[in-house]
Parts: sequence; structure tokens; C-alpha cells
Amino acid sequence: MSTFNAPPDAYERYMGLWSRPLAREFVDAVGIAPGQRVLDVGCGTGALTTELARKVGAANVAAVDPSEPFATACSATVPGADVRVGGAETLPFADGSFDAALSQLVVNFMTDAHAGVAEMSRVVRQGGTVAACTWDLRDGMTMLRVFWDAAVAIDPSAPHEGRTMPFCSREELDLLWREVGLADVETGELVVKRSYASFDDFWEPFTFGVGPGGAYCVSLDPAACEALREECFRQLGSPAGPLDLTARAWLVRGTA
Ligand SMILES: C[S@@+](CC[C@H](N)C(=O)[O-])C[C@H]1O[C@@H](n2cnc3c(N)ncnc32)[C@H](O)[C@@H]1O
Repeated sequence: MSTFNAPPDAYERYMGLWSRPLAREFVDAVGIAPGQRVLDVGCGTGALTTELARKVGAANVAAVDPSEPFATACSATVPGADVRVGGAETLPFADGSFDAALSQLVVNFMTDAHAGVAEMSRVVRQGGTVAACTWDLRDGMTMLRVFWDAAVAIDPSAPHEGRTMPFCSREELDLLWREVGLADVETGELVVKRSYASFDDFWEPFTFGVGPGGAYCVSLDPAACEALREECFRQLGSPAGPLDLTARAWLVRGTA
């Protein structure tokens, strides 16, 4: 959580440029439709909140995040949404308040994912939807996989998120949803693409200290940091110009 106590602009360059297109895919895949009242759990700077508001209107959207600067940024980005500071494990909403609760790139950061998903289920009406997506950190999220593969190539004890992060496979998400007691559990995948203007455009956001990758990057001394930068460059095929990458997230949805 402390790695997300960061300036919202830094988050936007590091992850928001990925999570905004992902949110469009996520909202469509879950089938959010006008007339519904919806909740975004772990809203960050508002990538998913924005897309939910586009579908159902800001007045029908609530959002929550434990990071105060992120919640403030989300509130400014989606005026009219009910944005609060708080964690998934104790949601500040009454039972059955929403038609759907969604959480994008958050389940693996929850202090207690079972409690967080149970809370999402509690605040959704009976028959409503509880859904989440998390990056495929072991393979398909190229930006983070390349960074961590490079880190481990230099230091095998580096905390590769694909090894340390829970709930970043469809099997783990499927099991979590069933263990919490959700019905009609389904999994799927979401794939998004984006371009970087250059390798520096790819690298620089890691130096902002946001998220586990950024936190690791800024913990290194300058020589180790430069070695990691060079290894990332090498693993990306030493690109001379713009860079196109894809990212896959695993999706899970169930009925409360
Ligand atoms: C990778 S960001 C995703 C933010 C946003 N959903 C997006 O797609 O851009 C992870 C977010 O989870 C939030 N978070 C961390 N622990 C949490 C918890 N226990 N409950 C809810 N959100 C949490 C962080 O503050 C951060 O905003």
C-alpha cells in the first residue's frame, strides 16, 4: 500500500496508461449497463471509475481506495462519484447497496483478499456481480515481466512479482471466488496494447518509485540501477525507436 502513496501523476505514467485501456475492456466484459449502481474497489487515480461513470453516470458510481492522494485524484477526475478513503476489507457501504462491485489490479494488493472479496459480495445485492482482474505477472504483462526478468537475471533474489504476488493466475482467482462463496464463477482474459515513444519512455516511470517495480528500482544504488536499465534494454531487443507492448490480465466474475 505504501508504494501507492505516490503522486497521482507518477502513477498515471507508470500504470495509468495501461490501466485506462484495461478498464474499457473490463467494463465491457463484465457487461455493466446504464441503470446500474456500481462500486470500484481500489480505484487508484480513477481509471476504472472513469469508465464506470461513462456507462452508468457518475452519480451511480462509488469508489474506495486506502491511498488518500489517489482517492483525491479520482474524485477530481470523476466529479459526482462518491469517492472514499478506505480498504476493501471493511467497505463503508451497507449490505446490498450495488448491482456490481468491480476491482481492477487490486486483489493481489489486499491485506486479506478473502475478506476483501467477501466485503465486495456483501455490498452487492443478491444476484449482483462481483468481478476483478489482475495482471498476468508471470507472462502476459510484458512491461512488468521484462522488468522483473531483467532484475532476476542480475540478482536471482530480486522479488519478481510473478513469483511473489498472489492471485495473478486465473486458477487462483477462480479458487478465491469459489472459496468466498460466489456462484456462477467464470474466468477469462483481457488483452491491451500501448506504445512507448522510446526505451526511455518505458524506463523512466520505474524511477518514480511507484508500485513494487518502482519501489525496487529506487532501492538500488546508481550502478545497480544502471545495470538493470541496460538489462531491460537488452531483454526488449535493444529498441532504437518506439516500442509496442501488450499486457494480459486475468478476469474473474461471479454472482453474489
Ligand atoms: C495497481 S493499483 C490499481 C489502481 C486502479 N484500480 C487502476 O486500475 O489503475 C492498486 C491499488 O490498490 C490500492 N490498494 C492497496 N491495498 C488495498 C486494499 N486493501 N483495499 C483496496 N485497495 C487497495 C492501492 O492504493 C492502489 O490504488
